Amino acid sequence: MAKMWEGRSSGETNKMADSFNSSISFDSRMYKQDITGSIAHAKMLAKCGIIEDAEADKLVLGLNEILDDLNSGKLLFDEKAEDIHMFVEEVLTNRIGDTGKKLHTARSRNDQVALDLRMYLRDEIAVIGAKIESLIEVFEEKEKAYADTIMPGYTHLQRAQPISFGMQMGAYKSMLKRDADRLLDCYKRLNSSPIGCCALAGTSYQTDRAFEAELLGFDSVIMNTLDGVSDRDFCLELASDLSIIMMHLSRLSEETILWSSAEFGFITLDDAFTTGSSIMPQKKNSDMAELVRGKTGRVYGDMIALFTIMKSLPLAYNKDMQEDKEQIFDAVDSVKACLDIFVGMLSTMTVNEDVMRMAAAKGFINATDLADYLVNKGIPFRDAYKISGQIVAYCIASQKTLEELSLDVYKQFSPLFDQDVYDAIDLFNCLIRRRK
Ligand code: ARG
Repeated sequence: MAKMWEGRSSGETNKMADSFNSSISFDSRMYKQDITGSIAHAKMLAKCGIIEDAEADKLVLGLNEILDDLNSGKLLFDEKAEDIHMFVEEVLTNRIGDTGKKLHTARSRNDQVALDLRMYLRDEIAVIGAKIESLIEVFEEKEKAYADTIMPGYTHLQRAQPISFGMQMGAYKSMLKRDADRLLDCYKRLNSSPIGCCALAGTSYQTDRAFEAELLGFDSVIMNTLDGVSDRDFCLELASDLSIIMMHLSRLSEETILWSSAEFGFITLDDAFTTGSSIMPQKKNSDMAELVRGKTGRVYGDMIALFTIMKSLPLAYNKDMQEDKEQIFDAVDSVKACLDIFVGMLSTMTVNEDVMRMAAAKGFINATDLADYLVNKGIPFRDAYKISGQIVAYCIASQKTLEELSLDVYKQFSPLFDQDVYDAIDLFNCLIRRRK
């Protein structure tokens, strides 16, 4: 295939160099955005009198046909094409003739690729946002259903104070709400149009960048043309936001794995979201949660790769930047898959309320409330803390829980103890008391 840039050079490159240089294997996924962008470009060129209206119509018709044919599978990507932009333009020119050669007036692949990527990621942000919303709904449902289900709350993975399983679910809901907010914020900065920046310095044609940006649903136009073609901060920002989502999901993964182990037994995952072992018949592994935990490393890797690719690049476009796409695409794909898996896994899990309740009964998670009881009777907190600690030590030695001690025993530690201590340390009361 002849090279688009044949002219200055013979256009003949080494086969290996050709395939090394080519990005169509991964940027073909932006074909819809590329064609939509080209349609708007043709319309803008006609509006500004740079091409004839009839020529624009021909371009638009041809582009729409390519879109239909790619959608239906009638037209296949040519792996020999350098990238999706070259491919579409070549097919167009082959199909409609010389008019096709006018499409690239007043633009360059540098602003075109920045445009396509922004449009592609804009669509993906909306998809991820909807998936986060679905997961938030699952958390919300669990938060309500298990509002009174007592479980031990942990710090340092040691039983600390009584909480409800609903509260734990609510914590993840809050995290994901902030994640969704962050994506919206990223979207605001991402949704600015680079098209018309051309190669780097803008164009000498009297174009209408605002018109083209509006046709494509952008909120603004990137005015500095060097900036428009050379920055990928929107990828870095999105990758950072995606990494934070994965960090949250990895904590949830870890808890899911722990909770579904025999040692905890707080939840039972549905068989549909677990796997067996090829050798140990008894195994039911939480592979999905483990994979999400593992993919967190992968998304962080994508983010770090993007930062490293962009570091120290001189303005404006450099071919290094072609490496941005596989990273950000991988991060987007991974996050989408992980969100979907969690929606399925959490909405089908069984919550073993009795086991949680039993775990809450051990570990003296009402010891803080015991100290608070004494504070309410007039003892300074530090002294109350010390007395309660002595009582816990006594319980450990005599293998009893705080609830099992008689009032006589309590009175040996402080004369201020009375019958109402049992209400004070009742786990459910401990939970309710903290509800604001
Ligand atoms: N395939 C290229 C990329 O992904 C498109 C831009 C190429 N521009 C250039 N002047 N080589 O970045």
